[in-house]
Amino acid sequence: MDIEGYQSGYSLSQKFYKNADIYTSEISNIFHKHWVFAGHLSQVPKAGDYFTVEFDVESIIIVRTKNGDVKAHMNVCRHRGSQVCLEKQGSKKLFTCPYHAWSYDLDGNLVAAREMPEDFKPVDNGLHPVHLELIGGLIFISLAKSPLSLSNMQRDLGPLLNLFGFDKLKLAEQKSYSIPSNWKLAVENYQECYHCTPSHKEFAQIHAMAGDLKTFAKQKAEFQARHIGSPKMVEYSAYYDLAAPGQEGYQYDRNPLLPGNKSGSLGGKALAPLLGELTEYDAGASELMIGPVMFFLIYDDHVVGYRFLPTSVETCVCDIFWFVDEAAKADVDYKLSDLTWLWDVTTIADKTIIMNNQKGVNSKFYTPGRLSNMESFQQSFLNWYVQSINTVHIAHAI
Ligand code: FES
Ligand SMILES: [Fe+2]
Repeated sequence: MDIEGYQSGYSLSQKFYKNADIYTSEISNIFHKHWVFAGHLSQVPKAGDYFTVEFDVESIIIVRTKNGDVKAHMNVCRHRGSQVCLEKQGSKKLFTCPYHAWSYDLDGNLVAAREMPEDFKPVDNGLHPVHLELIGGLIFISLAKSPLSLSNMQRDLGPLLNLFGFDKLKLAEQKSYSIPSNWKLAVENYQECYHCTPSHKEFAQIHAMAGDLKTFAKQKAEFQARHIGSPKMVEYSAYYDLAAPGQEGYQYDRNPLLPGNKSGSLGGKALAPLLGELTEYDAGASELMIGPVMFFLIYDDHVVGYRFLPTSVETCVCDIFWFVDEAAKADVDYKLSDLTWLWDVTTIADKTIIMNNQKGVNSKFYTPGRLSNMESFQQSFLNWYVQSINTVHIAHAI
C-alpha cells in the first residue's frame, strides 16, 4: 500500500500530524462520519438533565426530555449563532441563549423569540437535531447526514453488554486530559503496548499483554483454554478495514491478567461489586472498541471508557469514564481513588509520552519509522486511516 507517500509498516509522515487541510479532511471523513461515544444514560437521570460533548469546533447538547427520551441538539443558536448552553452539564427547563434570549425547550423547539417579523416561523428555527443511538445504556451521536448502521454491532455486542450489565452502570468519575498533540498520536499510543513495559510499570504488573509477544500468546492460549464456553470469551473483529460496508466498526476480545490479579487496581485487588450477571472473577479483562476513537476496558467489577477527540490540528483531549454497577455506593462498595488509580497514573504518563512524540515529529529530521511486531493494531489503524481521509485534500497539502 502506498497512498500519498504512506507505506504500511511505517509511521505516518509529518504532514499528517501538522497540516490544516489534512485535519479538515479528517474532521469531515472521520469525525463527522463515524459515531462518537457521548456518555451514559446514568448521566441524565431526570428530565432536563444535560451535558455537552465538544470536539473540533462543534458542541453538542445531550438532554433528557420531558417524556423520558434522550436527545441531542447542536449547541448553536438559530438566531445569530451564539452557543446556547455555556455550562458543560447541569439541569434546565429551557435552553435560553445568553445573547438575545431566544429560548428552546428540551426537545430543541424554539419557544420564545422577541420582536420578530410577522412571517417568522418559530417552528422552522429549532436547534439542529443530531442523530443519537443507545446501545446498552451507552449514548452515541453522529453528525453524518446518513449515519453508519449500528445494526451489526447491536446484534453482536448486545448479549455481551447485557452480560456485563452496561445498562445498569453508573458513571463514578470522568476526567479530561488535554494533550498537546495531534489526535492520531494519542490514538496510536493507546493502540500499542510496545511502550507498556518501559513506560507503565503499574499496568505491566497487572496485564499480561504488556509482556513479550511469545509469552503473552502462551498466557492467552492458557486463559482461553481455562474459559472455553464462557460467554465473555467470544471474539468479534469487525473493526477498521474489517467493518462491513455501511456499518460502524467494532471489536471485542478478552485477555488475561497476570496471575493473582482480579481487577485493574493496585495489587490487582477487587475494586467494586461484580458487574451485571457475573458471579465470579476470571482474572481477565475485555477490550471493546467501537468506532475509530473509542475504547472500553471491561474488568469484572468496573468499566473504563476511553475517548480521544481532536480540539485542533495539534491538540486533542482524552476523556476517561469510570463506570461501576449502579447499585454500588461510593466509600461503601468502592473507593473512588482506588477505582481511578491505574488509568489515571497511566494516562498522566501517556500524556507526557505523546507530547514528546509530537515534539519530535515536528522536527525537520523526523522521517516515518519502522513499526515493531507489537504495533500491529496501530498499523491496522494507520492503514484504515489513510484510506478513510479524502486524498484530494492530501494532494493539495503536499
Ligand atoms: S444569537 Fe442567540 S438569541 Fe441571538
Ligand atoms: Fe500508554
